[in-house]
Amino acid sequence: MVPRLSINRPLRAVFFEEEKMEQKLISLIKQLETKLKEIETINDLNLLKSEYLGKKSVFNDLMKELKNVSKEEKPTVGKMINEAKQTIAKRIEEAKLSLEQKMVEHKIKTETIDVTLPGKNMNIGSKHLISQIIEEVEDIFIGLGYTVKEGPEIETDLYNFEMLNLPKNHPARDMQDSLYISEEKLLRTHTSPVQVRSLLENKNQEPMKIICPGKVYRKDDDDQTHSHQFTQIEALVIDHDATLADLKGTLLFVAKKLFGEDREIRLRPSFFPFTEPSVEVDVTCYKCGGKGCSMCGYTGWIEILGAGMVNNNVLKNAGYDPNKFQGFALGMGVERIAILKYGIDDIRAFYTNDLRFNQQFRGK
Ligand code: PHE
Repeated sequence: MVPRLSINRPLRAVFFEEEKMEQKLISLIKQLETKLKEIETINDLNLLKSEYLGKKSVFNDLMKELKNVSKEEKPTVGKMINEAKQTIAKRIEEAKLSLEQKMVEHKIKTETIDVTLPGKNMNIGSKHLISQIIEEVEDIFIGLGYTVKEGPEIETDLYNFEMLNLPKNHPARDMQDSLYISEEKLLRTHTSPVQVRSLLENKNQEPMKIICPGKVYRKDDDDQTHSHQFTQIEALVIDHDATLADLKGTLLFVAKKLFGEDREIRLRPSFFPFTEPSVEVDVTCYKCGGKGCSMCGYTGWIEILGAGMVNNNVLKNAGYDPNKFQGFALGMGVERIAILKYGIDDIRAFYTNDLRFNQQFRGK
């Protein structure tokens, strides 16, 4: 018996053309099935699909052959061709599904993630040491009830000097030889003008406690210990009865927080036009504990900042009655604190931004 393509086909006399076509179609399907077994990619499968089902496929030729088939046989042969075409389409679709399934399985196998492996370290950078020290000092002062203020880096001569009791042409200005932008404007030489700004802003003349960190500029030749740009933190307290004793208590508290609980401080008389009396503040050397070593120049003490009671002229200039108000101010150099805390031997390291330097202070 001749193998049949369609099981639904009624049993009847098998004509010659019909039989020939059936043989052709069966071998075509067999041929395809063999080829499908070797297919490895979707791309190859698509090529095979157009070879068997596309415009120029064998089926086109078979359709042409249909013309020569006798009238009686035409419907059966035509149906046979169509059925074969459908079978081929089905085989290709099945092959496609199983190929896709295989690809997914392969992907799952090759792309499995070992969640127990350590992750890749991302370089997320860190805060500059100067910013870290500023935040440390801010935290200490905020804990004492101070608020943090900011002021402009381009400052007027009036706020930077005159209202701070440093009149034009006063020889004390020499201490802060400066970078002028015009007659009246300059890069601020210290954060003290923020004292003036804060006093003026405080219209109701309430008692106040502020600190102000920021960059300051001086006409200095840069070397190991000098920089034309550095950072200061100013503090100002105005009240009716704030005394030098309060200043000393504050300084001792801050020094202990910054340099260690067993530090002591001492105040030496000094001069600043905007404070009276003025003091220079030393802290006991944290390396030798005060005995004397190379760090402290064998004195046992290290100078950390300048401070004093706000000069009456500064209060008057800002419209405060010196008989009703008094207070204190201090100014510290942030680079100096960093140099002392971490034994840094060149101030230029803070701004040349050599990563080998900066990275030593990650996450401090
Ligand atoms: N402004 C002073 C300076 O830069 C420091 C200072 C501030 C001193 C406040 C006393 C009070 O040298």
